[in-house]
Amino acid sequence: MLILGDMFEVLDKHSNSYDLIICDPPYGIGDTKLEVKGPKHWSKSNEKWDFFYSVNEQYEFYQKTLSLLISKLKDSGSIFVFGSFHNIYQVGYILQKQLNLKIINSIVWNKKNAFYNVTRTALIEGTEHIIWAALNNKVQHYFDYEYACSQNNGKQLRNVWTSLKTPPGELIGHPHQKPAWLIHRLIRLACPSSGVVLDPMAGSGTTEIICGRSGRKRYNAAAAVRRGTARHRF
Ligand SMILES: C[S@@+](CC[C@H](N)C(=O)[O-])C[C@H]1O[C@@H](n2cnc3c(N)ncnc32)[C@H](O)[C@@H]1O
Repeated sequence: MLILGDMFEVLDKHSNSYDLIICDPPYGIGDTKLEVKGPKHWSKSNEKWDFFYSVNEQYEFYQKTLSLLISKLKDSGSIFVFGSFHNIYQVGYILQKQLNLKIINSIVWNKKNAFYNVTRTALIEGTEHIIWAALNNKVQHYFDYEYACSQNNGKQLRNVWTSLKTPPGELIGHPHQKPAWLIHRLIRLACPSSGVVLDPMAGSGTTEIICGRSGRKRYNAAAAVRRGTARHRF
């Protein structure tokens, strides 16, 4: 199910029944007023929804978002939160210290073809981070160990995942669209086959598409699709 709306309005009506939450929030990298001249094919992400006026405003947004989302998790549920260095330390602090969640893993997505640093003042930021956390209770979070091993030739899967960026054949025009394989892997690792997944900031709708294709009998992606359509080509 795809719900078009602001997650803060839409989610209040939903109970704590989610097995998995995939939260891919604004990282706070839009509209930075950064004056750099890149090559012709380079364009800076400049989305209004991806801009915060201050670190405090950004922090309050994550606090509000994550506290709301955690209240929607089942006892055995877990949450993945995406980020880069722009936001991930705030996210980690809020999850661990303020919301008292158990951090299960910190996953690094290593993008082999990440774009070079146009400012030439720093290293290429070639990774994104995904914090995986669960409620700090006595209930074991769901984890498909066999599936995880199947992703690494039968051996335990590590927390550094290397791939190319989202391939052009999948892109539908959203500036931060995640690759299908990545969302598919998260869902298979942490959501039972009859479980319910919530993606509160679905963007182009990747999670919803993958839920529909991964044999999940029930799924639910509450979302505001503010750009593009939820049509994917895989
Ligand atoms: C990083 S993108 C998500 C990309 C998505 N994972 C994909 O693969 O396409 C973040 C999205 O959150 C949306 N968003 C920001 N604030 C929101 C809110 N309050 N409610 C719903 N969506 C929101 C933005 O419009 C944007 O599309």
